[in-house]
Amino acid sequence: MLNKVIIGNQKMNLTASQTRKFINAFVPMVEHLNCDIAICVPYTNLAVCKRALKDTNVAFGAQNVSEFEKGAYTGEINSEMLADIGCKLTLVGHSERRKYFSEHNSEINSKIKQNLKYNITSVLCIGESKRERTAGQTRNVICKQLDECLSGLYENELENIVVAYEPIWAIGTGQTATGKQIEEAVNIIREEIARLYTDKASKNIVVLYGGSVKPDNVKNFINIKNLNGFLVGGVSLDAKAFSELIQIYVGKPVKK
Ligand code: PGA
Repeated sequence: MLNKVIIGNQKMNLTASQTRKFINAFVPMVEHLNCDIAICVPYTNLAVCKRALKDTNVAFGAQNVSEFEKGAYTGEINSEMLADIGCKLTLVGHSERRKYFSEHNSEINSKIKQNLKYNITSVLCIGESKRERTAGQTRNVICKQLDECLSGLYENELENIVVAYEPIWAIGTGQTATGKQIEEAVNIIREEIARLYTDKASKNIVVLYGGSVKPDNVKNFINIKNLNGFLVGGVSLDAKAFSELIQIYVGKPVKK
């Protein structure tokens, strides 16, 4: 059985000093919990994470990475730089990046390949829009995203991939998918990985759900079969609420 996994996506919210405060409050509340925990922060907060999360059970990552290796790409940050500062993971293909920065599957595929060179785990975000779901396109959309984003990857490289199913209509809206919808999507993801690779790869790949997960709804999702954990946005900005969510998920009494 794979470990439980919780990743916070703090988006463009906290400054470096606010991140330090967050970490100081958060870490004591989640120490010794049997769960892989990470936070994805803005680039400017990575140095603070490197210092403040040293020797803790919380890893840190970025929210994006360049698709390019190195050189004249003003404003970009590459995988080598992230690895050097201690990043263990980055988000790739978040729907906000697809929407506001026109990221396509082919670029996301390049980002994943760059990350692989530096042993950084890519948290690949995929998911359908409301319109696509209503039109019965959910399976097609998810499978196309997986096929194109993972194109050219070998099976052993999937160890460095986490798939986060994040239906666009559930992100930051307060409207979560139902347990049944999440289970169906997780099954589609695992079936597609089995088709592209092997049953073993399908069984082993880590799959998360993200979209309005909160302390008061996480228990509805705890028993979803084949789901390894959650990608948490808004709640991950609040040390108390985020730690509460994790404690509920791992079945520990919530410390108030
Ligand atoms: P949310 O965001 O938890 O605020 O809906 C999830 C995400 O964007 O990863």
